[in-house]
Amino acid sequence: MASQLIFLGAPGSGKGTQAARVVSELGYVHLSTGDLLRSEIKSGSVLGKKVTAIMDAGKLVDDQTMIELLKANCDLSDKNYIFDGYPRNGDQAKVLDSEFLKGTSSKAIYFDIDLDLLAKRLVNRRTCGDCGEIYNLISKPPKTAGVCDKCGGHNLQQRKDDNEETVKTRLGVFREAIEPVLAHYQGQDRLIRVDASASSDAVFNELKQAIK
Ligand code: AP5
Repeated sequence: MASQLIFLGAPGSGKGTQAARVVSELGYVHLSTGDLLRSEIKSGSVLGKKVTAIMDAGKLVDDQTMIELLKANCDLSDKNYIFDGYPRNGDQAKVLDSEFLKGTSSKAIYFDIDLDLLAKRLVNRRTCGDCGEIYNLISKPPKTAGVCDKCGGHNLQQRKDDNEETVKTRLGVFREAIEPVLAHYQGQDRLIRVDASASSDAVFNELKQAIK
């Protein structure tokens, strides 16, 4: 098994959903740059204030800020990470290799899906504000409306950037930036594609085979 995993894919392609399953079955640590940024916003930090408008608009935070955020939150000496949401462009892919992944074995998994399917997934996503469990009002609704199946909390939230207009921007940003990222890993024979349009269980099975 690769010691470090890099999850690549469009907004809504299922990276966070599958990361949670890989963590609970295979013991990796989930490092989501989106989650890190959202917790900075929640805490009211200087960084949080700096990135709020950018994230609300669905644009990318600058590369230098992202490097500093990763450095502050990632210690590869004794952990096996899933990098979720990083890299987002060719330069970030190079930095991840040179600054973080040196001397480790890593594989990039691309969650491959037709982008036209994703707006519907994203506007229907709800996330438990207490335990982080991810739901979908269409494909994975909670058993009781508004209540988290996992922790029983009554705090299912819709992400601020999961509205139609911002989703359109996020998908456009992804489309423009992803090719050099895929080429980076493909060129080094480190890229594995999974069919992210399948059911969550089917994606997980394919992913497990790919990781082994
Ligand atoms: P981030 O938080 O990384 O968001 P994202 O990349 O847009 O990805 P999502 O979290 O929206 O999608 P996901 O693939 O995890 O989907 P999920 O599993 O939840 O980034 C947010 C923002 O932060 C960026 O816009 C940017 O501003 C900033 N940022 C972050 N990293 C950055 C970086 N490196 N550089 C610069 N800026 C950065 O699933 C979605 C929905 O689909 C759920 O409802 C789920 O239940 C459902 N679903 C999942 N799988 C399936 C399935 N197989 N079938 C049916 N439904 C499914």
